[in-house]
Amino acid sequence: MRSILIAGNWKMNAGPVEADKLSAGINEKLAGRTLKSDVVVCPPFVSLHAAVKNLKDSPVQVGAQNVHFENNGAYTGEISTSMLQEAGCKYVILGHSERREYFGDTDEVIAKKVKKAIADGLNVIFCVGEKLEERKQEKHQKVVMGQIKAVIEHLTEEDASQLTIAYEPVWAIGTGETATPEQAQEMHQFIRNYLNEMWSTVQLSGVRILYGGSMKPANAEELLKQEDVDGGLIGGASLDAESFSTIVDIAEKIQS
Ligand code: 13P
Repeated sequence: MRSILIAGNWKMNAGPVEADKLSAGINEKLAGRTLKSDVVVCPPFVSLHAAVKNLKDSPVQVGAQNVHFENNGAYTGEISTSMLQEAGCKYVILGHSERREYFGDTDEVIAKKVKKAIADGLNVIFCVGEKLEERKQEKHQKVVMGQIKAVIEHLTEEDASQLTIAYEPVWAIGTGETATPEQAQEMHQFIRNYLNEMWSTVQLSGVRILYGGSMKPANAEELLKQEDVDGGLIGGASLDAESFSTIVDIAEKIQS
């Protein structure tokens, strides 16, 4: 059985001072609890320290929002896998549509980053998703399949145990518009079938597939109840300790 993964992507929000408050708030809600779900928060690099410190006695793990594919050296402005691990990160988000759109993260670059992060022991939340135009033209499955293929053709089946895929339709990110549970389920099932085709032996163990795009307490239950929706990658609603922990509670209820 795949347990649910609830991940908060703080994006470019919450510097060290605010992150200290937010992670302390999340800690207050979740510390001391034994959860069936896996829970992760992904602050900006400069706020990792505050989150790791405040969440060290909680079931919540900490992740980053990007990583470079080289070990170290003359790469001004970049952060390596070993730096993330030294800072206490267990996860990294890669391939987010905002990085694809604004920071030149092509399929090729993303593939290198995913491969490197997995090789160095990080769990990767690898994001895919179509734009509104592509959905209107009914190209969404083709687009998502292309994004997945570009990365997983560089991975081995053993790498799958450190891989989570996040389906985030670009038109649902930060817009308040959510994919319907049926749209999410349809795409998640499509992704799972595709992975099963590519990787015969991971069929039953299963890579988790998260939904992302305006997930919040009000719609989390119907999304998380879908058979192939194994969790959420949450932006806006993860910036509020109450909303985030409510989504975790919903995930717990579904699994009990
Ligand atoms: P929102 O939840 O704010 O729509 O963001 C989703 C997202 O991009 C998470 O990575």
